Amino acid sequence: MRVRKAVIPAAGWGTRFLPATKAQPKEMLPLVDTPIIQFVVEEAIASGIEDILIITGRGKRAIEDHFDRSVELETFLTRNRKEGLLSSVKDLGNMADIHFVRQKEQLGLGHAILQARQHVGDEPFAVLLGDEIFVGAPPCLGQLMDVHEGLGGGSVVGVQEVVWEDVSRYGVIRPQQIRDRFYRALDLVEKPARHEAPSNLAIIGRYVLDPAIFEVLAETQPGRNGEIQLTDGLRQLNGSAPVYAYYPDTRRYDVGEKLGYLKATIELALERSELTEEFGDYLEELVGGRKRAQLRLARG
Ligand code: G1P
Repeated sequence: MRVRKAVIPAAGWGTRFLPATKAQPKEMLPLVDTPIIQFVVEEAIASGIEDILIITGRGKRAIEDHFDRSVELETFLTRNRKEGLLSSVKDLGNMADIHFVRQKEQLGLGHAILQARQHVGDEPFAVLLGDEIFVGAPPCLGQLMDVHEGLGGGSVVGVQEVVWEDVSRYGVIRPQQIRDRFYRALDLVEKPARHEAPSNLAIIGRYVLDPAIFEVLAETQPGRNGEIQLTDGLRQLNGSAPVYAYYPDTRRYDVGEKLGYLKATIELALERSELTEEFGDYLEELVGGRKRAQLRLARG
């Protein structure tokens, strides 16, 4: 069965980006001029998803407004003949069938996913987290959906290799390789200490899940950080319905932390035709100046 529905959890605090996220959702932080969550929604749509449920919480109104129509803004742009901007704003309201549900208490990612139970029902569904964005074709989630379709059941998590120092920031799998880029996940561990990690294949926030996960999550006890973890639910589910892992061929930006966010901003800006030349020259000058200063310092 082709996956039609996707769930995007967006209820977290965004503490890594405080104070910027004190009064605005971290999902609305822009990469050049586009909020992070829009990249995630566009990836879902490019993958063939028709229905999106965004799990929000307190202080997340801006996300709902972003995907709603703004008649006043459209009128203003029409009057001022800003056709390009007008279509970029108008299209947002028609992107897909987007729904919202609130997570009333923040009890963890597993708990956030559980809020989608009624909306998703009894069909396989996708989950996309906003801490990473993937750029380029074919879309990351679409690659996982193709694999899932070929399997005819079970769940598929996206994985990519991370440096060993970073494994404790992720869910990690114990892989049994089946073929190139494709694994059976023999075990899944949420944020293990480096010496306890079964591999450095990290779960990258893209999943295709068997609906049986809901039943499991309803019983899952708080784990790492006292939160109900999706990884723990998948570990449990793995006993009755197999969990696989796929290593998608795609460019990944870790926008959930500052350095990754800055790298994404710069690389995406360099890809914009209206910015690439001037911004590229500026960066070269900046880096060149820094190197010259370092050389001067080294020479004394
Ligand atoms: C979540 C998941 C983790 C996964 C990560 C990917 O962690 O719990 O398994 O590897 O997303 O971004 P979080 O970053 O929300 O702490």
